[in-house]
Amino acid sequence: MASEYEIKKQICEIGKRIYNQGMVAANDGNISVKLNDHEFLCTPTGVSKGFMTPEYICKVDENGQVIQANPGFKPSSEIKMHMRVYKNRPDVNSVVHAHPKYATGFAIAGIPLTQPIMPEAVIALGCVPIAPYGTPSTEEIPDAVEKYLQSFDAVLLENHGALTFSDSLLNAYHKMESVEFYAHLLFISNQLGGPKELSRSQVERLYEIRRQFGLKGKHPADLCPNNKEGKPSCHNCGANCSGNCAAKGVSDVATDELVAQITKKVMEQLGK
Ligand code: 13P
Repeated sequence: MASEYEIKKQICEIGKRIYNQGMVAANDGNISVKLNDHEFLCTPTGVSKGFMTPEYICKVDENGQVIQANPGFKPSSEIKMHMRVYKNRPDVNSVVHAHPKYATGFAIAGIPLTQPIMPEAVIALGCVPIAPYGTPSTEEIPDAVEKYLQSFDAVLLENHGALTFSDSLLNAYHKMESVEFYAHLLFISNQLGGPKELSRSQVERLYEIRRQFGLKGKHPADLCPNNKEGKPSCHNCGANCSGNCAAKGVSDVATDELVAQITKKVMEQLGK
């Protein structure tokens, strides 16, 4: 494993990338990395993440309490949001929060990224839901995000930005890039008259590829109980991703499926 100093340098490098890519303005955004169950490195609050050096990086415990911080630096005001992700996802070793323009535009318009428009986005992300608005720095955002953590590796934050997480810092950052690329392409294709979506069977084949590759993380391809029985996914994403399944949350999708099945049975019994 890289030394703590090396990881601090990597956080600075990723900070530079999110700033230089225009994914954050001024002092926005934050990044954290898990060292072990009780120690985490995180960016400090209120500094430009594009101009950090390793001395800026703070160390906190699993409650977000400071273990080490150089004079003048305090952990990110959003540390509670990061900690909620780690608490619920033992497979996650890094969390990135940014305000990439197109993804945040969708989050402001209240439109989740659910249309299957390109194989890479379908395989890497599936859908990207929007967690309801919460006041920054309070428990409201962690509470809003929590219900999506078992099903996704990327969440839009309503009227705010995006949150991505993965097994490594680079992968968490790459998820942020993928979310923004997907949102940008969705925006462009809408300007060009609306995207031609991938079909339900095309999406299902991509989901199958993802499962065969054994890709890490959480993804709609792995949600459906039918998958475990080898049947096609019943998740709305498997059925074209264009419903508002992700926005509604996974348990609602399961409920919808149940209601649909019961309705079908009743109609059959009524001979309709
Ligand atoms: P911090 O500088 O406190 O991490 O906050 C930046 C931000 O983007 C809040 O959402």
